[in-house]
Amino acid sequence: MKQWVVGNWKMNGSLSMVSDYVPALLDGLLELSGWERSLRVGICPPSPYLGMMASKLTGYPVEVGAQNVHPKPSGAFTGEIAPPMLRELGVDLCLVGHSERRQLFGETDEAVREKLSALLEANLTPIVCVGEVLAEREAGRHLAVVERQVQGALEGLPPERLAGVVLAYEPVWAIGTGKTATPEQANQMHAHIRALLAARFGAGPAAGTPILYGGSVTPDNAGALLAQPDINGTLVGGASLKPATFLPIIQHSLS
Ligand code: PGA
Repeated sequence: MKQWVVGNWKMNGSLSMVSDYVPALLDGLLELSGWERSLRVGICPPSPYLGMMASKLTGYPVEVGAQNVHPKPSGAFTGEIAPPMLRELGVDLCLVGHSERRQLFGETDEAVREKLSALLEANLTPIVCVGEVLAEREAGRHLAVVERQVQGALEGLPPERLAGVVLAYEPVWAIGTGKTATPEQANQMHAHIRALLAARFGAGPAAGTPILYGGSVTPDNAGALLAQPDINGTLVGGASLKPATFLPIIQHSLS
């Protein structure tokens, strides 16, 4: 399986940042010759920049991702963006159920499931984010919480559709805090998620599903995280905002 490196800009950036970032990223990637054979690299900028980012990356093997989507293809949903609109802009990926969406915007497991299915329908790759908050980990409930989120997101998913799904484990206490899960803590959860997938879809499909880690990933800790057997890549927030910190993470993902 290819390793994944996906940058999540959150609500950061500007038109000029996109203009400066894309050539710098492409220049850096050029130096890692052949990277596209073993890696999938994606960037999720805010929605207003998706079209520009996608057009600048046309013809390059770097994928563009949205950070959110509405599950319906069209309709009276003021302020929302539909999956076919993303597709039309040249978007490939979409985050679903990011902890900020769950905590600040009330996104439920059911909403995550609807979005996941709508994205697959529109031929977009969903990256489904799951993760426990600190109190849940301290109470020893982290495995159960993530299990509920994974089961909730994938309930009713036709088995042949799993191949189009990416998961990301992002412990909420590690997001934007500078505290990373230890590689062992992260791998324990990744193995747990994979076992859930295996129980539902079979060992082969579970082994083929990318499970990314996110939460304060930096060039300094990426190597140790990626060395874990069940970690198939990273979802990078703060460190993806500058090619100078994102590129070394991509480089670690190659080795
Ligand atoms: P962070 O964010 O790398 O800044 O912790 C990760 C994320 O929220 O996807």
